[in-house]
Amino acid sequence: MTGIHPAPTTGIHPAPTTGIHPAPMSGAGSVPVGDAHPALAACRFAGLDLRNRFALAPMTRVSATEDGRATDEMAGYYAAFAEGGFGLLITEGTYTDRAFSQGYLHQPGITDEAQADAWRPVVERAHAAGARVVLQLMHAGALAQGNRFRDRAAGPSAVRPMGEQLAKYRGGGPWPVPLEMTREQIAEAVEGFAAAAVRARAVGFDGVEVHGANGYLLDQFLTPYTNLRTDAYGGDAEGRSRLVREVTAEVRSAVGPGFPVGVRLSQGKINNFSWRWQGGDAEAGALFTAVASAGANYLHLAGSGRDWLPHGPTLPALARKVTGLPVIANGGLHEDAVARYVLDGPHADVLAIGTGALANPDLPRRVAEGAALAPFDPQVLEPLATLANARAYSNA
Ligand SMILES: Cc1cc2nc3c(=O)[nH]c(=O)nc-3n(C[C@H](O)[C@H](O)[C@H](O)COP(=O)(O)O)c2cc1C
Repeated sequence: MTGIHPAPTTGIHPAPTTGIHPAPMSGAGSVPVGDAHPALAACRFAGLDLRNRFALAPMTRVSATEDGRATDEMAGYYAAFAEGGFGLLITEGTYTDRAFSQGYLHQPGITDEAQADAWRPVVERAHAAGARVVLQLMHAGALAQGNRFRDRAAGPSAVRPMGEQLAKYRGGGPWPVPLEMTREQIAEAVEGFAAAAVRARAVGFDGVEVHGANGYLLDQFLTPYTNLRTDAYGGDAEGRSRLVREVTAEVRSAVGPGFPVGVRLSQGKINNFSWRWQGGDAEAGALFTAVASAGANYLHLAGSGRDWLPHGPTLPALARKVTGLPVIANGGLHEDAVARYVLDGPHADVLAIGTGALANPDLPRRVAEGAALAPFDPQVLEPLATLANARAYSNA
């Protein structure tokens, strides 16, 4: 990527009250007060008032019931990040239909009223602790390794995914070759995203995030080596972006104009971390613009922070510049120097914190207090990325 430019108007405005005061903290139990860390400033983001710019990154924990309902344990897990000061929580990827979208056994879904209702305690506890919460809508496509509705995975083309299934999400061995989706199956997937978003709004979520990143269905369509289609959903970059554009537009139209819809995009994939978009700034910019035109309120660039130091241009800065939308950056942003670089520069408006948040559910409070962060230990996700496993790890 080349060329960093001053940020345009981003849709971020100082919120009326910031809750951040330059005074030292006093009194037991009082709310910690900030140093000048830019992430502690409140903001208006995609129509939401956030108390700060720390977001919990979406993280799959495969801890729902077998039939895809969120549990009380999950509500407690999410509440801990809200109580720890995060301004925005983005949930784990949640499947959207009862066909090919489910990727993992014990993944939560939002495909019927029972699954939708099970999310209410998550939303209520997040709100009670002062956070906003957005549901991530995910269709696994060819990277489905546990789906109770279908025996086969389906994707853009019958291409065996690279790598092997993920053991920490209960998979193993090579990925099977997926079915090539028919036009009807594509239409069903689009409709699933829209219906799921409507359910999310009904149970009180503050927005939805369409998962277009990390190698799952929408990214499979974007990627030339997984999308060999010769119809309108394949071919050049415009054809390959048709599905993510249609999903965004359908979700937008289903939830109406006042409900935030974000789209997460990435270069790297869970089964090909080093993949980089081929078309340079022009293609990346065209994708960002197309998704924005389809009705997205924000863009979320996953894993975008990894290569940021020494200081160079970034994809989030490009996304912000070409769309004028607020942007969430992600990837290693629990590191103080990187976080400051991103927010002080023209790069992004909000930081999504993944592994740093797992190690420090109270990361915003720690930053406010100037307290040290605990290092992330990957063992907390081994052998399974479940909440039960994490509990056992903590008790060991
Ligand atoms: C256990 C785990 C589960 C994840 N699940 C998801 C997911 O459901 N959806 C998603 O978009 N990204 C998912 N990610 C990626 C994270 O959101 C994030 O992009 C990644 O951890 C890099 O950010 P970090 O450096 O702050 O950890 C997951 C990451 C981890 C560690």
